[in-house]
Amino acid sequence: MPVTMITEREFTQFQRFIYDAAGITMANGKQALVSGRLAKRLAHYQLSSYGDYLKLLESRSEPAELQMAVDLLTTNETYFFREPKHFALLRDLAQDARDKNRGLRVWSAASSSGEEPYSIAMVLADVMGEDAAWEVLGTDISTRVLASARRGHYPMERASQMPQAYLKRFCLKGQGSEAGTMLIERSLRQRVQFQHLNLNAPLPKIGQFDVIFLRNVMIYFSLETKRQVVARLLAQLRSGGHFLIGHSETLNDINDTVIAVAPSIYRKP
Ligand SMILES: C[S@@+](CC[C@H](N)C(=O)[O-])C[C@H]1O[C@@H](n2cnc3c(N)ncnc32)[C@H](O)[C@@H]1O
Repeated sequence: MPVTMITEREFTQFQRFIYDAAGITMANGKQALVSGRLAKRLAHYQLSSYGDYLKLLESRSEPAELQMAVDLLTTNETYFFREPKHFALLRDLAQDARDKNRGLRVWSAASSSGEEPYSIAMVLADVMGEDAAWEVLGTDISTRVLASARRGHYPMERASQMPQAYLKRFCLKGQGSEAGTMLIERSLRQRVQFQHLNLNAPLPKIGQFDVIFLRNVMIYFSLETKRQVVARLLAQLRSGGHFLIGHSETLNDINDTVIAVAPSIYRKP
């Protein structure tokens, strides 16, 4: 069925949709991105305009479609051991916890398909021991990436920054039809919990954490949303705990209750 091009008005309505659903501010001029990502959903329902798809979302007649649209409108790029400085810090924190015979709880708050929480788990298993009292929680608003995170099956390229020793110890190399992929070992997979969670809404009961990773997601939020999300997450961080953000992000103008230890690394007093 021929589809009419997305109109300015329809684009503005999608901007509002993703803002209301996830707090994501989609820049003007992203019409091609929106229409490209949603085209297959129009085809699926045999709709000829983006306005008709919006009507379907608003009618709530297909509740699962709301999640599908959120999944398609979020950007989920990630890889193992992204921004290595944070993993060097995590190693030090894990060593300290081990020396003091303490556990460590770490939250990857926009975990995407799991590369970040599994990288965290590898460091903790390596330093503290595979059966030690550490916990890793990965959360995301997209159920599609969470399903992929639980599978733990990745193209090998995503692991190009992973230390070779970790690749050998924690990953199974795909053979035959799975060549060029790798699977996170079952025992490590079982140590990472994944949960659907919208950072732009009141949080469920998830307890207090020693380290929170909030990396490469604030870039999509408005200033006000950033302030609210950061305050909400800091309430879940223990005193003395570390808060890590993406290298291109900052907490300037967003929150001044934490101490900047290094660029993109903060500590709660
Ligand atoms: C670019 S990825 C970042 C992944 C990882 N933290 C990293 O730095 O590599 C951003 C993730 O944030 C998620 N996200 C966007 N808005 C969100 C919200 N309101 N609540 C929870 N997750 C959200 C997206 O679904 C996406 O998976």
